Amino acid sequence: MQSYNNIKFFSIPSPSYVLEKDKLESNLATLSDIQEKSGAKVLLALKGYAFWRRFQEVGKILSGSTASGIHEARLGFEEIGGRESGKEVCVFSPAYKPSEINALLPIATHIIFNSFAQWQRYKSAIDSKNKQLETLGLSPISVGLRVNPLYSEVSPAIYNPCAPKSRLGIIPSEFQKGVESYGLEGISGLHFHTHCEQDSAALQRTLAHVEKHFGAYIPQMQCINFGGGHHITRADYDRGLLVSLIREFKAKHHDIEVFLEPGEAVGWQCGFLVGEVVDIVENDGQIAILDVSASAHMPDCLEMPYRPSVFKVSRQISDEASDGKIEITEADKGDPREPDSDISDIKASQSAHENPNQNPPKTCGKYHYRLGGPTCLAGDIIGDFSFDTPLNVGDRVVFEDMLHYTIVKNTTFNGVPLPSLGVVENGRFVMLKEFGYQDYKERN
Ligand SMILES: Cc1ncc(COP(=O)(O)O)c(C=O)c1O
Repeated sequence: MQSYNNIKFFSIPSPSYVLEKDKLESNLATLSDIQEKSGAKVLLALKGYAFWRRFQEVGKILSGSTASGIHEARLGFEEIGGRESGKEVCVFSPAYKPSEINALLPIATHIIFNSFAQWQRYKSAIDSKNKQLETLGLSPISVGLRVNPLYSEVSPAIYNPCAPKSRLGIIPSEFQKGVESYGLEGISGLHFHTHCEQDSAALQRTLAHVEKHFGAYIPQMQCINFGGGHHITRADYDRGLLVSLIREFKAKHHDIEVFLEPGEAVGWQCGFLVGEVVDIVENDGQIAILDVSASAHMPDCLEMPYRPSVFKVSRQISDEASDGKIEITEADKGDPREPDSDISDIKASQSAHENPNQNPPKTCGKYHYRLGGPTCLAGDIIGDFSFDTPLNVGDRVVFEDMLHYTIVKNTTFNGVPLPSLGVVENGRFVMLKEFGYQDYKERN
């Protein structure tokens, strides 16, 4: 569990996503080190982390942003910077509409296409924009193609861009056909994205496939984008290997410019979602109904699926901590139960606890709860957890590591309020944005 000294959880309105600024800065320091040692440029993938209200440090350290379309590109341009401030605004979309390309031309530094047909469709628009940029003495828009190296270690398949019949990236045979039909003049970059929460050893294995299928084209390229999914800021990530892979790649290929575009690694473990227990019902076990929803506020809990780390804070503990320091004890931590555990298993395990001869599983607290959200979706379940002390109505439940792929994906399904956005900086909680009825109404 992470440390949370000085955070007064009851002073934070529930529900709220809360950024811990010092943890973000520590991630940025790690990424800065990677840039410095490897010579690669690290861009923030806004699809994963777009907490722009605290982008000041991000903009100082990272080399720019990467976007999936015009809205993210605009956000990156406005809040991190564009070519005028020496920052990259890289865009990849599976398919662009003409209106999107027109809106991207003034701000994008890199436009990556997913097919030769899309490149051809917009080639003349980009060429004329580049002529204009040239006369102003500004760097042209670099045009790239996303490739599919037919190799990815990602599972489940929903997250695997190289799964059979994937629409993401040009497969080697189609790339060859494209080169035969159109050549590569005007293409200055290749892009692949095949990782998700992976270590650098996976990149090492992937690079072999990229070189096997697309190595012949690399000499003509000025840059190559290794995509996202590199879990660089995770404590056990092999950063030394990443640095040497990039350095070796650059040395082998005419010092080609290398980009990395992580989202998750920027927002990794740098904030939480705080919710509140609103009721506890009984149906073959205790089910706590919270004001936060798996479906609306933590969708990856259902999509991946994964179980977040959880702890609870009771009013009593909070009041006692008059110096503001909250000790989260073992008793407050929610021990995960086996995935797919059934409520009947919870009962069995609970009675095992009451009978010490039955060897209770060591990781399980005595009190078991299913944590569920406030929506009508029967499957709006965050997971089954055990605590050493009972959970009560009014307790705060804190879900760790909830800043990436949550806020960017959340919804107002059932009209549930969007959690507020706040930050803990210099030991103080600051509210940045609250959402209300109008936010729900305007979306419908
Ligand atoms: C093309 C592309 N780049 C970058 C990313 C960011 O990946 P992550 O947040 O896992 O680092 C993604 C995520 O899906 C992606 O599709």
